Amino acid sequence: MRIYVAGGGGMLGDAVYHALRSRHDLAIGDVVDRDDWVHHCDVRDFSDYRHHVDAFAPDILIHLAAHTDLEYCETAVDDAYRTNTLGVEHAATIADMHAVPLVYISTAGIFDGRKDSYDDWDEPNPLSVYGRSKFLGERHVQRCVPRHFIFRAGWMMGGGLAKDKKFIGKLVRQLIAGERRLHVVDDKLGTPTYTVDFARNIERMIGTRYYGLYNQVCGGETSRLEVARELVRLLGLDTTVEVVPVGSDHYAAEYPAPRPASERLVNYKLALRGMNHMRDWRVCLAEYVREQFADVIAPLRVPARQCVHAA
Ligand SMILES: NC(=O)c1ccc[n+]([C@@H]2O[C@H](COP(=O)([O-])OP(=O)(O)OC[C@H]3O[C@@H](n4cnc5c(N)ncnc54)[C@H](OP(=O)(O)O)[C@@H]3O)[C@@H](O)[C@H]2O)c1
Repeated sequence: MRIYVAGGGGMLGDAVYHALRSRHDLAIGDVVDRDDWVHHCDVRDFSDYRHHVDAFAPDILIHLAAHTDLEYCETAVDDAYRTNTLGVEHAATIADMHAVPLVYISTAGIFDGRKDSYDDWDEPNPLSVYGRSKFLGERHVQRCVPRHFIFRAGWMMGGGLAKDKKFIGKLVRQLIAGERRLHVVDDKLGTPTYTVDFARNIERMIGTRYYGLYNQVCGGETSRLEVARELVRLLGLDTTVEVVPVGSDHYAAEYPAPRPASERLVNYKLALRGMNHMRDWRVCLAEYVREQFADVIAPLRVPARQCVHAA
C-alpha cells in the first residue's frame, strides 16, 4: 500500500515508520523534520497538507498530527483546535478527494473518568481542551468519512528518550538527571499503550474492511503509581530509587489541566472481532525498557560511592 502519514515525526509516528516501512511505500510529514524520512507538512494549512498528499497519491491516509501537551492546549486554545480539530477536518476532506480511507488516532482523554473503565461505545465527556479537541476530531471523522478507522490510545509509551514526551520518558529523564525519589500520583488510573503494538495493530486493521472506532490499548488495567513502580523494578533501580505516592494536588501548579481520574479503556470491539493483538502492558514495558533504556540506565545502577571513586 502507499500510505501517507501526517504528524509522523512523533512517538507514534516513529513506531508506524518502523513497523510499516518494509511492506509499504510511506511518505511521512510533520512540522518537526528531525528525521531524514520526514518532510515538512503542516496539517493546519489545508493547501500544504493537500499538496503533499496529492503529490504522493496514497491508498490510505494516516493522520497522527496533534498537540498532545494538555497544558499547552489549555493555554494555546486556538492552536489546539486549529491543529487537533481543524487539521482532522482537512484530513477528512483530503481523504474524500482521493477516495481513500482515513485513520485517525483519538485518546482515552475524551472521557470524564467517572467510570472505572470505558468500552468503545461509552459516551465521551471531555474535561480538557485537549480532550474536547480530539473528541471533535472523532465526531467529524465519524460523520464525514465513510471508510475510517479511529483508534483510541491510552497512556502512550514508545520512541525512547528522543521522542517519548510522556510519563515513561519523563520518569527516565528524572532518573538520568540524578533524581532518586520519584513523586508519582496515586489517584490516576489508566491503560498504557505501547506504540510498537499500536502500530502493528494499525497495520493489521487497515488490511481489513472493519472500518469504525476502536479502543486500542495494552492489556491490563493499572495506575500511574503501579506503572512507575514496575518501571523502576525493570530498570533494576528498586533498591536505590524510592517511588513516593502523592495526590494529584502535588502537581497542581506544574500540570493544571483537568485530567480524568480514570482513563482506563477496554478493547471490547477489537476482541469481538478477534483483532485484539495488543499485549499486556507489563510485557510491553519490559520490552520497551530492554530495547531503549538498558544502556542509558546501566551506569545508574553503580552504587554512589563507586561513582565517586571512578570520577
Ligand atoms: N501521547 C499520548 O499519550 C497519546 C495518547 C492518546 C492519543 N494520542 C494521539 O496519538 C497521535 C500521535 O501522537 P504521539 O503520541 O505520537 O504524539 P507526538 O509525539 O507529539 O506526535 C505528534 C506529532 O504531530 C506533530 N504536529 C503538531 N502539530 C502539527 C501540525 N500542525 N502539522 C503536522 N504535525 C504536527 C507534533 O510536532 P510537535 O512535537 O512539534 O508538536 C508531533 O511530532 C495524536 O493524534 C495524539 O493525539 C497520543
